[in-house]
Amino acid sequence: MHKNRGPIYYGDYLKLDALLGSQEPLSKKYSPECHDETLFIIVHQVYELWFKQILHELYLINKVFSQKVVPDQELASINLKLERVEKIQSLLLDQLLVIETMTPMDFLEFRDLLVPASGFQSLQFRKIEVLMGLSTQNRTAVDRDYFMGRLSENDKKELLDIEDQPSLFVLLEKWLERLPFANVENYSFWSDYQTTINQMLKEDESLIMKNLATLGPKEKEAQLANLEATKQTFATLSNEGEHNKLIEKGQRRLSHKATLHALFILLYRDEPMLQQPFNFLTHLMNIDENFTTWRYRHSIMAQRMLGTKIGTGGSSGHQYLKMAAENNRVYNDLFNLATFLVPKSLLPELPAEVAKKVRFN
Ligand code: HEM
Repeated sequence: MHKNRGPIYYGDYLKLDALLGSQEPLSKKYSPECHDETLFIIVHQVYELWFKQILHELYLINKVFSQKVVPDQELASINLKLERVEKIQSLLLDQLLVIETMTPMDFLEFRDLLVPASGFQSLQFRKIEVLMGLSTQNRTAVDRDYFMGRLSENDKKELLDIEDQPSLFVLLEKWLERLPFANVENYSFWSDYQTTINQMLKEDESLIMKNLATLGPKEKEAQLANLEATKQTFATLSNEGEHNKLIEKGQRRLSHKATLHALFILLYRDEPMLQQPFNFLTHLMNIDENFTTWRYRHSIMAQRMLGTKIGTGGSSGHQYLKMAAENNRVYNDLFNLATFLVPKSLLPELPAEVAKKVRFN
C-alpha cells in the first residue's frame, strides 16, 4: 500500500485546469458562438474518458489471459472488471439522451465546421473494437474502408500494431481449448452429450410425424425441412470438418474444440469450478450486446439529427450505422450456442472422476 507523502490539492490532483480548459467551441472562433457546441464537445470528451477506462480494463484482461495458464483465482477479479465495463456501457447509452436535448437545427448551426472530422476517427473506440476481437479482416468491405481510411497515418499504425497482438477473442479461444474437464481419460463430453441430442431429436421427429396428418402438404414439407435443418446444425457440432467449412464461409469463428468446451461450460454452469468460467462467457456476451445496442441507438440518434443526410465523415449516415450495428458483433458464436442447449433435466450425469474435478468435495 502506498503512503501519502504530502498535502495534495483537489484541483491539482485531478488536473482540472487542463481538463476544464479543454472545451474550445470552433464556432467561437468564427463568431457568434453556438451555445450547444459546448454540450457536443463535453459529451464526446466524457465518452473518450470512459473509453480510456474501458481500455484500461481490457489491457489488464488481455495481460492475464496472455499467460500460458490463467490462474483460477484471477478469474473472479477479471469478472469484476468486465462487470465494471458493463456498468460504464450503461452510462454510455444514457449519455445519448443528453445529446438528444440538442435539436437538429441547433446542431446545424455548427455542423459544417466539423467536416471531415467524425466519430470514425475515435482511435480509442477502434482500439476497443480491435481488442475485443473485431479486426480489419472481420469487417465488411465498406466498413473496412471507413475503418482505416479516415485515420491519420500515426493512428493507423498504432491500430495495426494492436491488431498484431492477440485479441480477447483469440485469447478466449485458446483458453477454452485448454479447458481440462471436457475430455479426461475414458470420458469424452461430446459422445455422452450426443446420445442426449439424438434422443431429443428423435422425440421432436415423432412429435412432428404425429402432427403431420393434421397438416396440409406445404406445412408438412416446411416442418420436415425444419427438422432436417436442425439435424444438420447439430451434425456440424459433432463433425470438425463441417464446422471448419462454416468457419471458411465466415459463418462461425470459434474453433471446433473451443466451441465444444464453451458448450460444456454453459451446460454444466452450476458445477462450482465452472461458475466463474460461465460468468466470464456471460460478461463477454453482455458487453458484445451492449455495444450492439449502443451502435443501434447511436444510429437512431444520427437519423434524428441528420435525417437521410450523409455524415461529416462521408458515410451514408444512419443507413451505414444501422448496418455496422448488425455486422460488427464479435461473440456471435457464444450466442449461437443456445441452439445446442437442452433442459437441465436431460443433462447426462458427469462421471465420478470428472465430477470430483469440478466440485468442492
Ligand atoms: C449530434 C450527434 C452525433 C451525430 C449526428 C453523429 C453521427 C455520426 C455518423 C453519421 C457517423 C458515421 C460516420 C460519418 O459519416 O461521419 C458516426 C460515427 C461514429 N460516431 Fe457519431 N454522431 C454523433 C455523436 C456521437 C457521440 C457523442 C459519439 C461518442 C463518442 C459518437 C461516436 C461515433 C463513433 C465511434 C462512430 C464510428 C462508428 C462506426 O464506424 O461503427 N458519435 N456518427
